[in-house]
Amino acid sequence: MEASAPAKVILFGEHAVVYGEPAIAVALNLRSRVRIFESNEYRVNGYPLERKYHGYILNAIKLCWRGPPLEIFTESEIPSSSGMGSSASISVAMVAALLSTTGKVKEKEVARLGFEVEYETQGRASPIDTSTVTHGKGVLIDRQKRENFLWRIEKNGIYWNIHHVDVPRLKLVVGFSGIKASTGEMVAKVRRFYQWNSFARDVVREIGRLTLRAIGPLENEDYEEIGELMNRNHKLLTILGVSHPMLRKMVESVKRYSYGAKITGAGGGGSIVVLTDEQDEVIKALQAIGAQGYKVEISNKGFSVENQN
Ligand code: PMV
Repeated sequence: MEASAPAKVILFGEHAVVYGEPAIAVALNLRSRVRIFESNEYRVNGYPLERKYHGYILNAIKLCWRGPPLEIFTESEIPSSSGMGSSASISVAMVAALLSTTGKVKEKEVARLGFEVEYETQGRASPIDTSTVTHGKGVLIDRQKRENFLWRIEKNGIYWNIHHVDVPRLKLVVGFSGIKASTGEMVAKVRRFYQWNSFARDVVREIGRLTLRAIGPLENEDYEEIGELMNRNHKLLTILGVSHPMLRKMVESVKRYSYGAKITGAGGGGSIVVLTDEQDEVIKALQAIGAQGYKVEISNKGFSVENQN
């Protein structure tokens, strides 16, 4: 069985979404793939399956597999720890491959189990990454049920309604700082701030309001306004303590070529996302300060199961 899933980038609402606030993300044209075969023992890319190295794969097996041991091969075009959702993509591809052994796979089921895998492995997560790489295109998460509703995910008293959202063909660059940061640790850091400080809770709510304000400009292709909201979201994430001197430098370096730029994903290192008409200039500016830039496109394709027999 073979399955694949795309990368993603969060345009608005990371961190706040963990507390039930809205977020918007899009799938990207980079993919990861898994192939699974029945075997005598569990192996991943030729090595024994170990929690330390293969946490997402192991949890996917625990949740979705009752059969014999498996030989698993993974491949990914998505740079790891880059904020482009490599772990969500592998989790969803793995869940889809495992479920497809027993019949047709439903989007909603893959999204739910993919989320459970990420939650188990990271200790805490929202369904933004896993739902986006399951569905493809654009995804809006909100507590409130809206137009274009896809499915609902619940965990420990928090629930999220997942919706399709129409997003134009934005010209984006993902800038990777080269600094790997743990999503789990960054989420835990924000959680401490959120629990003890009412100002942090206000910032989280403000991120939620700003995310909802971005829906109209996205639908109307109002790049100036989208960029302005991205800049504001970046400042709020900085206040939450998830920026890094290198991310600040990167956002500064692309200002003159972009509508807006912000941290994307967990922060603390990782990546920024830039909305621009000048992708090549942005990539050069990032390279000049020692970061990497990836020209990315929005993908309409979510998870897919191939070679099904
Ligand atoms: O670092 P990433 O790309 O996995 O994004 C994490 C997004 C957070 O909102 C920080 C956590 C989550 O699970 O929603």
